[in-house]
Amino acid sequence: MIYAVFWISLLIVYVLFFFFWVYTLTKAAPYYPSNNEIVGEIVKFVIKHPYAHVAELGAGDGRIVFALAKAGIKVTGIEVNPFFSLWMRLRSAISGYTNVVINNGDFFKQDLNKYNIVVAYLLPDVMGKLETKIYQEMRKGSILLTNTFTLKKHKPSKIIKKKLYVYEIS
Ligand SMILES: C[S@@+](CC[C@H](N)C(=O)[O-])C[C@H]1O[C@@H](n2cnc3c(N)ncnc32)[C@H](O)[C@@H]1O
Repeated sequence: MIYAVFWISLLIVYVLFFFFWVYTLTKAAPYYPSNNEIVGEIVKFVIKHPYAHVAELGAGDGRIVFALAKAGIKVTGIEVNPFFSLWMRLRSAISGYTNVVINNGDFFKQDLNKYNIVVAYLLPDVMGKLETKIYQEMRKGSILLTNTFTLKKHKPSKIIKKKLYVYEIS
């Protein structure tokens, strides 16, 4: 009996995980993690900016959020998939970082004005919508870092490792 309960629970978790993976495909991007090199480049870039307050849009498993937190940077991970949000909250509680906030929700419904650096790894289809939001809400001098996919109208001020695009909001 106990085995049946275990396997059924596992199946339910798998099904829900798959459901949320497909759901996020319709939202902005399904889960696909940045590689270690890009995570390192993001930390190297952000650490040069004093008073950085970072938001990661679609934080996934939190690899970027916690790499930044470890470097002492104030960071908010926004993630719509409740499995990942729960995972990041557990990780945050265990690690004891006081500079991390995990926000479960749709970043398109949140105001990005308070952040001066935003990090995103999404899909090409949503980059136009993201561009409008970023340029409407973020203050002059803020920075957007996007992995792999570029904005539609603005040109990056810098490209790191041919993959990480830096936009300075003017
Ligand atoms: C391509 S993955 C990138 C994960 C992580 N940022 C990284 O670079 O390793 C995109 C993430 O965005 C999340 N996501 C998609 N649409 C979202 C939305 N509208 N609001 C918040 N998170 C979203 C997905 O659940 C997924 O974890």
